[in-house]
Amino acid sequence: MSSLRRLQACLGSQTAIEGFTTASYKKDQTIFVVGGAGGVGNLVIQLAKHLGAPYVVATTSTPKVEFVKQLGADKVVDYTKIKYEDIEEKFDFLYDTVGDCQKSVVVAKDDAAIVDITWPPSHPGAVYSSLTVSGESLEKLEPYLERGELKAVIDPTGPYHFDNVIEAFRYLETGRAWGKVVISCFPLGDPHHSPILSGAKTNIGENDNGFSEDVCLK
Ligand SMILES: NC(=O)c1ccc[n+]([C@@H]2O[C@H](COP(=O)([O-])OP(=O)(O)OC[C@H]3O[C@@H](n4cnc5c(N)ncnc54)[C@H](OP(=O)(O)O)[C@@H]3O)[C@@H](O)[C@H]2O)c1
Repeated sequence: MSSLRRLQACLGSQTAIEGFTTASYKKDQTIFVVGGAGGVGNLVIQLAKHLGAPYVVATTSTPKVEFVKQLGADKVVDYTKIKYEDIEEKFDFLYDTVGDCQKSVVVAKDDAAIVDITWPPSHPGAVYSSLTVSGESLEKLEPYLERGELKAVIDPTGPYHFDNVIEAFRYLETGRAWGKVVISCFPLGDPHHSPILSGAKTNIGENDNGFSEDVCLK
């Protein structure tokens, strides 16, 4: 994994794992992820499997159904076709990355843990989780990152150069990203300016979306 990919996986997975910690995820709990294709959601799915979730279901729109399956979701719900109330299964853990808990709560069991990473939390029963970048969460993630088990998904419209930061935010604000929208503050691929991003040039030159061989975007 290149430094850029490692950095992306590291940041997104910290937000993702903190949600599991904040809402006290217990191994063997089934999980429903709202927003499986986004910068955080894709890593929630990947981490869920590593944390021992026996069953992970995630929502996304039609073009991203296959992508979300490849991230490891056992089942994908196309939210443009299926409403939450039409889903018969109930889940132990509801992980909302969209702020849709007011509606998505119907798929949660009565005693389910509900975590929302958007502010303010979209349901009174949801706990809000916020990225703190702690050594503790990095320690938990280290084995997965070291073994390359968490795949970095960089949105294929990027990485954006810092000069194009407005364009990057405009795109992010469409809410349609595939994985993480990445902006580089350094001359891409120049190891003298940015050791941490060395290798990024290859990603851009090849229009690489940052995914490993076994999962492809678009
Ligand atoms: N608390 C924290 O520490 C923290 C940290 C990072 C981010 N956040 C917040 O968490 C949210 C998610 O962040 P992000 O970076 O993952 O966002 P993002 O990458 O912009 O999310 C975009 C994704 O959301 C999906 N989406 C949009 N509406 C949806 C819906 N109704 N149902 C299912 N999927 C839907 C889109 O898929 P489709 O195109 O298929 O709809 C797209 O793939 C944002 O509000 C962000 O501000 C919080």
